[in-house]
Amino acid sequence: MKSLEKYIGYEIYPYSFKDGNDDGYGDFKGLLSKIDYLYDLGVNLLWICPFYKSPMDDNGYDVSDYYQINETLGTMDEFKQIIHECHSRGMKVMIDFVLNHLSDEHPWFQEAIKDKNSPYHDFFIFKDPVMKDGKKCLPNNWEGFFSESVWTYVEEIDQYYFHIFSKKMPDLNWDNPKLRQEIYKVARFYLDMGVDGFRLDAIAHLAKDVTFSDSELPVNEKGIVLDTAKFSNREELYGYLKEFKEEVLDHYDCITIGEVGGCASCEEALRYVDREKGYITMAFNFDTCWENGAYGDYNKKDKDIKVNVKNMKSLFKKWYDACHENADMPIYWVNHDHPRVMSQYGNVKYHKQSAKMLITTLLFMYGLPFIYQGEEIGMTNVDYEDLDDFKDVSAQNFIRSHKDFVSEEVMLRFLRRTSRINARTPIAWSNGEYAGFSNVEPYVKVVGNYPTINVEDNLKDEDSIYKYYQKAIALRKEISSTIYHGSFELLDKENPYLFMYEKKDEEHCYWVISSFSTKNHRVQLPKEYDVLLANHKVVTRHGELIVHPYDSYVIEVKEN
Ligand code: NOJ
Repeated sequence: MKSLEKYIGYEIYPYSFKDGNDDGYGDFKGLLSKIDYLYDLGVNLLWICPFYKSPMDDNGYDVSDYYQINETLGTMDEFKQIIHECHSRGMKVMIDFVLNHLSDEHPWFQEAIKDKNSPYHDFFIFKDPVMKDGKKCLPNNWEGFFSESVWTYVEEIDQYYFHIFSKKMPDLNWDNPKLRQEIYKVARFYLDMGVDGFRLDAIAHLAKDVTFSDSELPVNEKGIVLDTAKFSNREELYGYLKEFKEEVLDHYDCITIGEVGGCASCEEALRYVDREKGYITMAFNFDTCWENGAYGDYNKKDKDIKVNVKNMKSLFKKWYDACHENADMPIYWVNHDHPRVMSQYGNVKYHKQSAKMLITTLLFMYGLPFIYQGEEIGMTNVDYEDLDDFKDVSAQNFIRSHKDFVSEEVMLRFLRRTSRINARTPIAWSNGEYAGFSNVEPYVKVVGNYPTINVEDNLKDEDSIYKYYQKAIALRKEISSTIYHGSFELLDKENPYLFMYEKKDEEHCYWVISSFSTKNHRVQLPKEYDVLLANHKVVTRHGELIVHPYDSYVIEVKEN
C-alpha cells in the first residue's frame, strides 16, 4: 500500500453490523452479505474490530485466544472468505490487533496466577501488596480508564496484577522478550493469511513507569487518580515498536494505525509515524472528537453543549501542519468508543443536511478518511430510558461508582450523550422488526428512530445521506491528488459557525464551505468557479453565497 491517496476507510464493529444467523449478534455471515453494500458506497479499506475468541467483557477487546474466531461471529473459513471477497473487489482489510492486554481467561494468564514461578507469570505485571497498619493495600494510587484501580488482587499467589482497562483485561508485560515474540507470531499468522494491516489497539500504553510510584495528582474519593502519563508514550515503547517493525512489519506490505488516544501530542505522535524515522504508518489521536464539551462534568445540561467550531478547525490544522510533510494521518469524526457524530456535531433537527455537511467537511482534508459504520445513514445516539440498557463495561463501571451520589436521571442524560454504546447499537438495515439487524432481539437495544433512519429507505431515496456519501466519496477519489498533496489553509478561521478551507496545488484550487450553524450566513464567492458538490441548491446574491443551516459546498476556484 505505497500510496494511501485513494483509500477511504470504513470501521466495522462486527457484533453490531449484521446478524446472519439469528442469535442477536452481528457476525461474519452478516458481514459477508453486506460487502457489496460497502463496495457500492465506495469505501475500500475496512477496519474490522476484534473478532478473536473472547468472554466478551469488553466486546472482544478481551482476547482469550488470538488464533480462534469468537463463536458468535463465525469461523476462520468465513474470515478468510471476507478477505477474499474484499480483495477480489480491490478492497483492503485491516484488523484490530489487541496487544496491550488480553483476557484473564487466556491460558497464559490462567497459568500465571497458578504459580509465581511459571514462565507465564512474567508475561504480565504483578506486584506484592503494600502493607499499611498490618493491612494489605494496593501497590499504588493509579486509576485505570474504566473508573477503577489498575490493581486487582489474586489470593492464590498473594499478588496484585495490573490492568489499565477492566479487571478482566490484564496488561501484558512488553518488557519480556518472550512475550513480545509470542505477539509477533500472532501478527505474522494474520499477515500470512492475507490481511493488509493492523489497527493497533491502545498502543500508547505498552510501556509503563516501572517505578510504579504514586501519582502526585489529586486523588478521588476512592484514593485513586487517572494519571495517563504513568502509562502512555513512555520511552521504552519506541524500542518495542522498532523491534516489532524490524522483525515483522518490514517484511510485509501492510498498513498500521496505532491508537494513541488523547494521550499523545503531535511531537509524540510523530515519533511513531514519521515516514523516515517512525515505526508505524499512522496514529489515531482523538483531539477532534471531543470538541463540544459533552464529557467532563456530568451535571452539565444538554442545552449547554455547544460545538466549538473554531477550536475544532484549529485542531485539524494543527495535526495537518505536524504531519503533512512527514507522515500520513487518518481523519475521522469518531469511532466505536464515542457517541454518534450526528448527535455530537450534527443536528438531528437538520438530520440529512447536517449528516451530508459532516462528511463533506471531513473528506476533502489531508489524510485517510475513516467512516464509522452507520454514519452513512446518519445514525444517532440512543434514546434509552433504563441504565441497564447501557451494556458496556465502562458505562456499567461508571454507574456502579457514581450511583451513591449521582441521580439516575443525571447518569442517564450523561450516558446518552457520551457512552460508547451510542456507537454500538445495531445498524438499522430497515424499518422492520429489530431494525432489520436480526430476526431475534439483538444483544444491544436498537435506537428507537430506526423506522425513519435506516439503510433500506436510504437506498430508495436519490437525495439520501447514503447516496450523497457515494457522490462525495467518488469526488474525493477523483481529486485525491490535490487533496493529498496540495496545501491546506483555513479560510476565515476565526468564524465560529463556518468551517471553510482551501486545498490547492499548481493546477487546482478547491474551497470547502460548511456550516455548523442554524442561521443563514454569507460567503464571498470567487470571480469564477464550478460547484462540484453541494447539499443544497446554490443560492447567490451580489457575488455572495447564501449558506443556509448546515449547508456544505465543494467548489473549484477558477479565478479569484
Ligand atoms: C481501545 C478500544 O478502542 C476500546 O474499545 C477498548 O475498550 C480499549 N482499547 C481496550 O482494548
